[in-house]
Amino acid sequence: MSQFGKLEKTLRPILFFGNNWISLIGGALTTASAFVLVGFWVVSFFGHSGPINPYVGIVIDLCLPGLFVLGLVLIPVGIWLRHKQLKTAGELPAVYPQIDLKDPVFRRGIEIVVAATFINFVIVGTASYRGISYMDSPNFCGQSCHVMAPQWAAYQVSPHSHVACVDCHIGSGIGAAVHAKVNGTKQLIEVMLGNYPTPIKASLSELRPARATCEECHSPTRFVGEKLLVETMYGDDEKNSMTHNLLALHLGGVDSLSRLSGIHGHHLDHYEYVASDSTNQNIIAVNKHNADGSITQFVSADWKGPVKGVTRQMDCMDCHNQATHIFQTPQDAIDEAMQDGGVNPALPFVHKKGMELIQAEYTSQASAATKITSGLEDFYRTQYSGIWTGQRGAVDMAAKTLVAIYNRNVFPDMKVTWGTYPNGMGHSAPGHNPSPGCFRCHDGNHTSKDGKTITNDCSVCHNLLASDEANPKQLSDLGLQQAAQ
Ligand code: HEC
Ligand code: HEC
Ligand code: HEC
Ligand code: HEC
Ligand code: HEC
Repeated sequence: MSQFGKLEKTLRPILFFGNNWISLIGGALTTASAFVLVGFWVVSFFGHSGPINPYVGIVIDLCLPGLFVLGLVLIPVGIWLRHKQLKTAGELPAVYPQIDLKDPVFRRGIEIVVAATFINFVIVGTASYRGISYMDSPNFCGQSCHVMAPQWAAYQVSPHSHVACVDCHIGSGIGAAVHAKVNGTKQLIEVMLGNYPTPIKASLSELRPARATCEECHSPTRFVGEKLLVETMYGDDEKNSMTHNLLALHLGGVDSLSRLSGIHGHHLDHYEYVASDSTNQNIIAVNKHNADGSITQFVSADWKGPVKGVTRQMDCMDCHNQATHIFQTPQDAIDEAMQDGGVNPALPFVHKKGMELIQAEYTSQASAATKITSGLEDFYRTQYSGIWTGQRGAVDMAAKTLVAIYNRNVFPDMKVTWGTYPNGMGHSAPGHNPSPGCFRCHDGNHTSKDGKTITNDCSVCHNLLASDEANPKQLSDLGLQQAAQ
């Protein structure tokens, strides 16, 4: 039998059984999704590939390739079903309808089938690749799913808004990738069933170690010296009086002789700790590995039980846990907005009123937007009619800014509100960081067996050059008074 003869013998039954609805629909699905996909790729290749809506991404990169594969699967399924049906009915033909290979139309058909199969492979391959890299993109991680709205909002305005989520959240190597996909699938199912935790708990244990993330970009060997921190605050009086904090932070680092100093330097040593809660807010013991190989253990005086639990080695993220997802305090958020003009400090009592409005409880972001806006407008309309008529633009702008501050920090449907996520930077100071931060260990209450205590001395970390002062002399000495006003 000739080559063609053999081919014809196999093809005849396929073509015969393939002539059924299921296989035809399968063929149509595959062809149609292929056309759309190729069309989309051509368009995006020629430049129209700006930031796309994540739902478009889901359709293009996940659903369409899914349909395409489904179509491919339906074709043999239809063939098999029709074969089974005819066999049961005893209607299998003894001889399948003739295929005439000399017929040029039919030969062209076979060539097309072969070519189409090849193209299908290319399409499925490319589509899966794109699907996977799409799932790794910040758009997918942060925006496809409203559950991540708080982290996404904070990410977008952070200094790391161009670092991909997976660069910090998914470790390198196959093990980490599998772990992430399994975890991700679990979370996807939780979201579909609606039984995800609210708020989502932040935890350092799922993150890559700082060595593989932060330190890829920020070299700890480059840290050295002091950092001057100028904080500008506004008061609750009619004039929103401005005051300043001025701190020289002893940031330190590693010098050229490998000596460690200051805040950065000391914690580059090998410190480990055990916490009694999953967000590491209650630290019960700290182990310091000394140069001679011994370990000094500092235990919290408040902890009466034995020290046990997961030991974590301290790294950048224990202090900079909010390097990317920065949730503000109401005070810091308004002070910042008043400094950059979004909330005009010339509006009487705008600080006091603004604080009140953004801290009130609302059922949703939409309801907050309406009530914050009407609250501020009512205040000026009834109390300061001159401002209401003369500075309407400033009032509108302040209302808009307050709504934006609220939407960036409070998510009622995820039960995320002011202070939900603790910040490891600094320490509990009125109006500023509400979480203990450095004082989780530096509370003067963590002591070793030989009587040493982790320091609580203010001046070890910073010189407080001015605290809540209207006109700190140091600022004008530095020529910064103008800039800070
Ligand atoms: C530069 C590093 C970095 C990048 C980039 C980053 N994150 Fe995070 N993320 C963190 C750290 C650190 C925490 C832990 C915060 C804490 O413990 O308070 C965290 C916590 C979270 C949490 C809380 C739950 C958990 O796993 O701890 C979510 C959700 C999250 N990130 C989502 C995202 C998404 C979505 C993106 C991208 C849009 C992103 N992250 C990008 C560092 C990063
Ligand atoms: C892909 C590179 C990259 C990675 C990874 C990265 N950063 Fe950054 N980081 C930057 C850049 C670039 C900036 C400066 C952005 C700017 O000034 O707008 C920055 C800014 C910062 C700042 C603010 C500095 C300032 O002056 O306010 C801190 C703090 C910081 N990073 C800490 C971290 C920590 C902690 C991690 C690990 C969780 C990390 N970074 C991971 C690139 C990175
Ligand atoms: C013990 C807590 C702590 C640890 C650990 C820590 N930092 Fe910091 N870091 C700070 C403090 C405090 C500041 C100054 C805060 C500010 O600017 O408001 C700071 C500032 C920074 C800045 C900004 C520097 C500048 O000049 O403005 C960068 C970048 C940074 N840290 C990166 C890192 C990286 C990377 C690591 C890990 C190798 C790390 N930090 C570990 C506490 C820490
Ligand atoms: C997990 C516990 C822990 C946290 C959180 C922590 N530290 Fe420390 N820190 C230590 C330990 C332990 C030492 C070493 C104490 C000793 O040797 O007596 C230390 C030492 C220091 C030193 C050197 C003290 C000296 O005597 O010279 C400075 C400065 C410092 N820390 C600043 C900070 C700052 C600022 C923060 C917050 C941004 C912070 N630490 C957060 C555990 C911690
Ligand atoms: C373990 C180190 C450490 C110790 C001890 C410490 N501070 Fe601080 N403090 C910090 C850091 C770090 C910041 C900066 C936080 C930031 O970047 O916003 C800060 C900020 C402040 C601020 C500015 C407000 C704020 O939260 O930004 C004040 C005021 C302050 N400290 C007062 C004190 C006083 C008073 C003491 C002594 C009782 C003290 N601190 C002890 C590390 C320390």
